[in-house]
Amino acid sequence: MTTQIELTGVNKYYGAYHALKDINLRIPKGSFVALVGPSGCGKSTLLRSLAGLEKISEGTLQIAGEVMNDVPPRKRDIAMVFQSYALYPHMTVAENLTYSLRMRGASKDEARKKADEVAQITGLTGLLDRYPRQLSGGQRQRVAMGRAIIRHPKAFLFDEPLSNLDAALRVSMRKEIRALHDRLGATSVYVTHDQIEAMTMADHVVVMRDGVIEQQGKPLDLYDRPANKFVAGFIGSPAMNFIPAVVAEDGKSLTIDLGSVKHTIAIDHQVQAGRKVTVGLRPEHIRITPAGQGTFDVPVAVVESTGSSTFVTAATTPELTVVETGRGIAHARETIGVTVDPSQLHLFDETSGARI
Ligand SMILES: Nc1ncnc2c1ncn2[C@@H]1O[C@H](COP(=O)(O)OP(=O)(O)O)[C@@H](O)[C@H]1O
Ligand SMILES: [Mg+2]
Repeated sequence: MTTQIELTGVNKYYGAYHALKDINLRIPKGSFVALVGPSGCGKSTLLRSLAGLEKISEGTLQIAGEVMNDVPPRKRDIAMVFQSYALYPHMTVAENLTYSLRMRGASKDEARKKADEVAQITGLTGLLDRYPRQLSGGQRQRVAMGRAIIRHPKAFLFDEPLSNLDAALRVSMRKEIRALHDRLGATSVYVTHDQIEAMTMADHVVVMRDGVIEQQGKPLDLYDRPANKFVAGFIGSPAMNFIPAVVAEDGKSLTIDLGSVKHTIAIDHQVQAGRKVTVGLRPEHIRITPAGQGTFDVPVAVVESTGSSTFVTAATTPELTVVETGRGIAHARETIGVTVDPSQLHLFDETSGARI
């Protein structure tokens, strides 16, 4: 696929602070890429560098095959989609949509024709003469996107556009943004700290920490084979359990250490005998059985039910979280058995956190 945006060896310093560290990223035309990571990891800095709002310190940024390092924002042909409240309150939807066209000298008729077209695509037909205050949150978000669409940019950049919306609207807007992206055949870069948003919306997820890309790939590949403990703990909800363990003499099993509970389990590949590792085990990959019938037994500390699923926290050190569908499967202060499938264990180096 054609490359739309490419960063090669990009570094960004704010004075002495190293905000982006050797970023290499290729964004194919038509793809939806999510940049995800905890607050302060450099997501906005990276996005703003694409838009030209920040100047990169080292490396190369190319858009549609052209080096953009020194090209000013308005000549990059890229649209930043701001949160809904960035609309002009004293302008109608149509005026908001066509503001940039009018500024460039488009006629009133031309602008109205364009507004009609964009309203069709974004589902704003019939709302063109309203003011932003007369719209719902979702409709305002559509105007914000429509305003970007009208310029036919080479890429759309989103910086946490849904973070001010309530939970239900967030879920519907993420589908809407993705559907709009598909309809337009757009190229989108989407920043979020919410891994669920990244996983559900994007074709390609880039996980960042402290200015570094920790891993990038297809959403489910990151879930199935996290490259390190950080990505493993960041992707997936509830978060992966991490348990200290030592590999046995045979190199084919290990003993996990849950404080009062210690147990030896088989592993599906050979690891150096005696090596200290961290075992990663997703809550949804542990099954609950009656005591004595699982891989090992644990005492139950807390049981929480959402109605559709039950979260069980075992009274071990570290705590072990298990999630099961259904209810009534465990009770506080009883002992349960847990079944663990060796093929679903993730092993990480105890010190570096790298996948083994
Ligand atoms: N203009 C600036 N001057 C100095 N430091 C900045 C500036 N902008 C961002 N930073 C720092 O760079 C780091 C990354 O910031 P940012 O890209 O906004 O993170 P994110 O969007 O992932 O939360 C943070 O530590 C932040 O404090
Ligand atoms: Mg940010």
